[in-house]
Amino acid sequence: MALRTIRTQGDPVLGKVCREVTEMTPKLKILIEDMLETMYEANGVGLAAPQVGILRRVVVIDVGEGPIVMVNPTILESSGEQTGDEGCLSIPGKAGVVTRPNYVKASFLNEDMETCEIEGTELLARAICHELEHLDGHLYVEKVEGGLHDVVYEDEDGE
Ligand code: NI
Repeated sequence: MALRTIRTQGDPVLGKVCREVTEMTPKLKILIEDMLETMYEANGVGLAAPQVGILRRVVVIDVGEGPIVMVNPTILESSGEQTGDEGCLSIPGKAGVVTRPNYVKASFLNEDMETCEIEGTELLARAICHELEHLDGHLYVEKVEGGLHDVVYEDEDGE
C-alpha cells in the first residue's frame, strides 16, 4: 500500500465526472487499498477516487465503524434532514455548515463486484452524500450556508 497525494480545491480533476467501473482489476484493488491508507493517514472519514486524481466511481468511508468500499454507488432513498459542520480532505483546515438528509440508503458494488446495499444515518448519511458528489465533480462548498470557517485539528499525541 502507498499513500497518494490528496488533490486540493482548484485542481481541475475535482470538477470532473468519474467513469463507472466495469471490471475489478489488480490496479483498482491497489487504488482502493491506497485510498483507505490515505484516508486514515489524513484522519478523514471518507475519500473519493478523484481526490487522488483517479476519475473512477470509487469511494471509501469509515465513520468509526470499519471501512466501507463503494464502487459505482447510487443513492436509492433519502429522508429527513441534518444541518451541521462538514469538511473535506481536499479543503484542508476548513469547515462549513451543510444541510443533508439524515437517512440514506445506497446501492453499490463491493471490491468483489457484488451488489450491496447500505443504510446510514447522521454522519454516515452525510459521508455517503458528500463522497458521492465528488464522483460528479461537486464539492460541499457549493452547498455551504454562511461561508467556511477555520478548523484547528489537534493530533491525538498532542503534537
Ligand atoms: Ni470531500
